[in-house]
Amino acid sequence: MLRLTPSALSSTLSNQLLRESAHLRSLFFETLLPIYTSRVLDKNLQREDSGTISVGSLLSLFLTSYTWKPTYIVEVGTYIGNSISSIAFGASLHNRKLDIITCDNQPCNQNPLKGIELPEGSKAEVFLGSSTDMFKKLIKSNQPIDMLHLDGRLLKHGNDTELLSQLISDTTLIALDDCEGCEKGHVNLSLLKRAINTHAFISPFPKDVFQKWNLETHSLTGFLIPKSSASFSWQ
Ligand SMILES: C[S@@+](CC[C@H](N)C(=O)[O-])C[C@H]1O[C@@H](n2cnc3c(N)ncnc32)[C@H](O)[C@@H]1O
Repeated sequence: MLRLTPSALSSTLSNQLLRESAHLRSLFFETLLPIYTSRVLDKNLQREDSGTISVGSLLSLFLTSYTWKPTYIVEVGTYIGNSISSIAFGASLHNRKLDIITCDNQPCNQNPLKGIELPEGSKAEVFLGSSTDMFKKLIKSNQPIDMLHLDGRLLKHGNDTELLSQLISDTTLIALDDCEGCEKGHVNLSLLKRAINTHAFISPFPKDVFQKWNLETHSLTGFLIPKSSASFSWQ
């Protein structure tokens, strides 16, 4: 019987995204990558106990966000804002009003979307506080999230998984950073797996995909995609 493993799905999805997004290449290199690089080079913007996403993750988030077309975007772990810029930039290219919220206990960038032009009427908020407090606030609006990026630790004592299960629907795309070994991505994944059974895990995209755009980089961003979004095709 056909077995679709996380790494087989990763290879299939990443190659498909790259094939279908060739027209985005110059936007990535001319708009997003310079924003990323200037932040990484600005030592005043960073803390010693944390780090930003890799270039491979930047590209993975950009391509998936562009393809998924989320309008309601939620993130845990703003830090210097590279991941939320990437997701926002991909989504903004469809010119639909965006609603973005990213939380951090200790953000290092007051304006994480600087340099990204959001469609008219869009809202963007940096929530200063924990994932638990942000999820509690979001539950009140009773709106399922289109795309969620977890680059912080889900808090067991805050009951984050239970709160999240009220915010995720069977169409939410979930991205998880640090999906290697025992790092936080896999810890978050194992917590989420217990709460949702509508999604399939996709490993971080392989290095050879980034080489197709002449990038020597890697990604630690895994995805949970709704099983209902996959289809069999004749070609
Ligand atoms: C690896 S950094 C995020 C990098 C960021 N995504 C970027 O692209 O620059 C992780 C950040 O998440 C924050 N964080 C971790 N767990 C959190 C939680 N449960 N609630 C709020 N913030 C959290 C930390 O303070 C840290 O600044």
